[in-house]
Amino acid sequence: MTQVLQTVATYRSWRSESVGTNTLGVVPTMGGLHSGHLELVKRALSENDRVVVTVFLNRTQFNKQEDFDKYPAVFAEDLRSLEEIGVDAVFAPSYEEMYPDDYRYRISESKLSSELEGEHRPGHFDGVLTVVMKLLMVADATRAYFGEKDWQQLELVKGLVETFFLPVEIVPCPTVREVSGLAMSSRNRRLSEAALGQAARFNQILNTADSDLLAERKLAEAGFEVEYVADRGDRRLGAVVLEGVRLIDNVERRSNR
Ligand code: PAF
Repeated sequence: MTQVLQTVATYRSWRSESVGTNTLGVVPTMGGLHSGHLELVKRALSENDRVVVTVFLNRTQFNKQEDFDKYPAVFAEDLRSLEEIGVDAVFAPSYEEMYPDDYRYRISESKLSSELEGEHRPGHFDGVLTVVMKLLMVADATRAYFGEKDWQQLELVKGLVETFFLPVEIVPCPTVREVSGLAMSSRNRRLSEAALGQAARFNQILNTADSDLLAERKLAEAGFEVEYVADRGDRRLGAVVLEGVRLIDNVERRSNR
């Protein structure tokens, strides 16, 4: 049976009594679980003796209240899916439990976090890095699983772990996609049928355009509001808005294939 733990103290008791010296995988999530999250969890289950999934809708990483309000909060549904695949524990704390300081203390990175996603979502990565630091400190896990869909987040989390000597291995997991190529995301639930069809063009254009500038132009022509497309190293990253829903994705650049 999956244990639901809502406080740091009860989590720590579970950690010492039920995990002990066994390996532990942690999958941090904000809930609203989809098949992409479940792939991370399955991987964690296959590589560790015990697995904990954190379900915490972290309001400090939302720069728009409206986005926070619209995020799917479906804990009973999430718990059912996690129970079905045999997760050992779910850590689901309240805001007060995670932020006893009401976010007076925070982690911030001063370079990568102000570009791309950071430029369009001021303060977003401070919220992400702060909560990931807290979750990793509490979880005390052997491995932590993050999706490559949030490429910039993944890079920043790797940097966090390295910088603060956190004793956990970060395991990057490939983006899980719909048959159409659309990256799975909790936000996809907010798209109409028609927009879901159109959203598939996002990944196709990122994959096929000859340059980031051309990708931007083609996306605009395909009806997306484009926030950015940028080629960085071996990746092409992009963010667009469709029906008021913000979508992000990244692909390996064609020249590198
Ligand atoms: O990727 C997410 O769902 C969130 O940014 C994370 C890592 C769970 C932190 O709230």
